[in-house]
Amino acid sequence: MITRRRLLATGTASVATATTAWPWREALAGNDHWIDLTAAPDKAPLLEDGGETSVWAYNGKTPGPTLRVRRGETIRVRLHNGLEQPTSIHWHGIRIDNAMDGVSGLTQDPAPPGGTFDYVFSAPDSGSFWYHPHHRSWEQMARGLYGLLIVEEDAPVMVEREIEFVADDWRLNDQGQIDEASFGSMMDWSHQGRLGNWLTVNGLTEPAIPVRSGERLRLRCVNVANARTLAFDFDRDQLSAWVVALDGQPIVPTELASDGLRLAPAQRADLIVDVLEPPGGSIPIYEVSTRERIQAAILMVSATAPLRQVPPPAPDPLPANPLPQKLSLHDAQVIPLLMEGGAMGGMREARYQGAMLDIGDLVATGKVWAFNGIVGRTADPLARIPLGRTVVIDMINDTAWPHAMHLHGHHFRVVERGGKTVTGTPWRDTELVERGKRVSIAFVADNPGKWLFHCHMLEHQAAGMIAWIEVA
Ligand code: C2O
Ligand code: CU
Repeated sequence: MITRRRLLATGTASVATATTAWPWREALAGNDHWIDLTAAPDKAPLLEDGGETSVWAYNGKTPGPTLRVRRGETIRVRLHNGLEQPTSIHWHGIRIDNAMDGVSGLTQDPAPPGGTFDYVFSAPDSGSFWYHPHHRSWEQMARGLYGLLIVEEDAPVMVEREIEFVADDWRLNDQGQIDEASFGSMMDWSHQGRLGNWLTVNGLTEPAIPVRSGERLRLRCVNVANARTLAFDFDRDQLSAWVVALDGQPIVPTELASDGLRLAPAQRADLIVDVLEPPGGSIPIYEVSTRERIQAAILMVSATAPLRQVPPPAPDPLPANPLPQKLSLHDAQVIPLLMEGGAMGGMREARYQGAMLDIGDLVATGKVWAFNGIVGRTADPLARIPLGRTVVIDMINDTAWPHAMHLHGHHFRVVERGGKTVTGTPWRDTELVERGKRVSIAFVADNPGKWLFHCHMLEHQAAGMIAWIEVA
C-alpha cells in the first residue's frame, strides 16, 4: 500500500536533472518559431523504485517542458491533442489577450482529439507562471498535464542557479498507477477535492538537486496539485531564504516565515536562497502541511569549495511589473460573492441550468457548490464591468472548506479581511479563502474580455464553483 507514511520511510534519493544551469538566457522560446506541445498518454518514473506510471504528459514529460520567454516577447505555441478527449491550454497568471486564455467553452472551443490549437500571445509581466488544460482540468491535471512558464526579467537577477520546484500530490493505487476508479468521486467533490497520496517534485520522488556551498539560488515553486494546500520547510542552519515574488508578482523580499512556505493549489512563490551548508552536505526540504514531515526533495551540496565565505547581502526586490498603480476603491464596482455548499454546509437548494434544485437533486447531478445560489458557469456573466473600472469582489466563504479563488487575466490584492481594511497586500492571482472567512479583493478591470473567477480546487470548480465576468 502506498501511503504518505511510506514516503517518509524511504531512503536515499535518486539523482535528478532538475536544475536549470546558469546562464539564464538558455532555451528562450524565441520570437519567430513555433513551440509544439503535444498532450498525449505516456509513462513517467514517478516512483522511487524505478517503476513507471501511466500518465498524460506534454511532449512525453510531466511536468511538461519549461517554457522561458522574455517579457513582452511573442510566444507561439501549437497545441497538438494526442488524447482521446478534447483539451485546451490556459496560461495561468498571464495577463493575456482574452482569445488566448484557453478556457474551453468560454474563450475557445477545445482542440478535439487529433486536432490542434494555436496560441500566440505575449506576457506583460516577468515572473513564474504555469500552464495547464482548462477542459476537464480535474482529470487532465490529475493525470500529469502541466508545466512551468517562466517570463524573464529585463535584466538578469543576481543568482548563480535557478531551481524549478513543481510540487504535485498524485493519487496512486497499490500498483503505483493513477487511481482512476476515484475520478468523479462525490466524496472528493463535496469535501476537500481529490487529495493525493504520493508527493512528487518535478515529477520525481524526493529528487536530489545538486547545489554548491555558498551559492545564491532562485527557487521557482508552484503547487500544481488538484486540491491540496502544500507547505515546505527546511533547516534554517543550512539555508537562508527570502520570498521575493508571489504568483509571479514581486514583493518586498521577506524572510521565509518560521512555519515555512504555504502554497494553495495554483499559487507560486519565488525564493532567493543562500546555501549555508558546507561542501558535501545535504539539505532536505520537507513537506509540512500534515502532521508528518515528508521529505519532498533534497539539495545535495557538492564537494567543491564554497563559492563565497560570507553570504551576499539580503536580495534586492525584483523589478516591478507594469501593474495598475491605483485602485479606485471609493467608486469601485462591488461584486458580492456568497460561497455555499459542500459537505457539512447549510445549502438547501441552488439554481442549476435555470432550474431550482434541492440538495438531493444537486448531489445526484454532481453539482454541490454554488456562488450566490447558482451552480456552475452560466450563459450570462456574474458582472459586466466597463474597461478601466476598479472592481471589488467581496467573498464570504459560508462553507466548511477552504477555497483557492483564482481570477483570470488580472492580478488583484486583498483589501479587506473580516470586514477590516488591510493595506500593503501582495498582488496575486489566487487567494486561499479559509472556511467561514470574509475576504475582499480588488483589481482594475483593464483587460477586456471574458474572464473566469473560480475555485482552483479542481473538483470544487467542476462541481459548481465557477463564474465569469465580462470586461468591455
Ligand atoms: Cu489555473 Cu482557471 O486556472
Ligand atoms: Cu473550493
